[in-house]
Amino acid sequence: MESGGEVPAAWAGQVGEVLLGSAEIGARVTALGAELAAAYDGKNPVLLVVLKGSFIFAADLSRAVDTAHELHFIRARSYVGDVSSGEVDVSGLDGVSLDGRHVVVVEDIVDTGLTMAALMRRIEAMGAASVEAITLLQKETVRRRPETPPVRWVAFTIPDKFVVGYGLDFDQRLRHLPFVGVMRKP
Ligand code: IMP
Repeated sequence: MESGGEVPAAWAGQVGEVLLGSAEIGARVTALGAELAAAYDGKNPVLLVVLKGSFIFAADLSRAVDTAHELHFIRARSYVGDVSSGEVDVSGLDGVSLDGRHVVVVEDIVDTGLTMAALMRRIEAMGAASVEAITLLQKETVRRRPETPPVRWVAFTIPDKFVVGYGLDFDQRLRHLPFVGVMRKP
């Protein structure tokens, strides 16, 4: 599946364009995995995977990080349909110790930055030794909030369009697409 290639017929009604093909994503994720491995060698970091959107990214990334690390899964919800609600509901951190740990938040996409800002604040307050973030996608948008923390690793910067696939959904659908596509508005 190539970037800019034809959308498979099965999805052409819902997806207008292949923004990132699976081969391009795979190559970039492998390269980022090597960067993380070099940055955290011997530190046994915790990859804090933000479900549901980053489940495919995290699965591929983790397998490309060729040094010891742990995985923990949390949920963060700020969107209903394709609109941000302005509040972030985080679950899965209760009873988890991140004290003294090196934490890498693994996100699918940074849009307004609301989710990332809320998560980093929570994790820093839990006494982590370091907190960094990696995201598959970062949108070029004027809606980015000023309090958005810097994201150390961005796999792809994309235009301000609603995208689906490779974990990202529209109303829980289309997560399973092996590519990132631009949603065709009904
Ligand atoms: P933020 O808090 O506005 O940065 O949004 C982050 C969350 O919104 C992501 O983790 C996604 O779940 C969701 N989101 C934002 N933009 C998109 C998109 O284009 N497609 C699918 N989900 C999105």
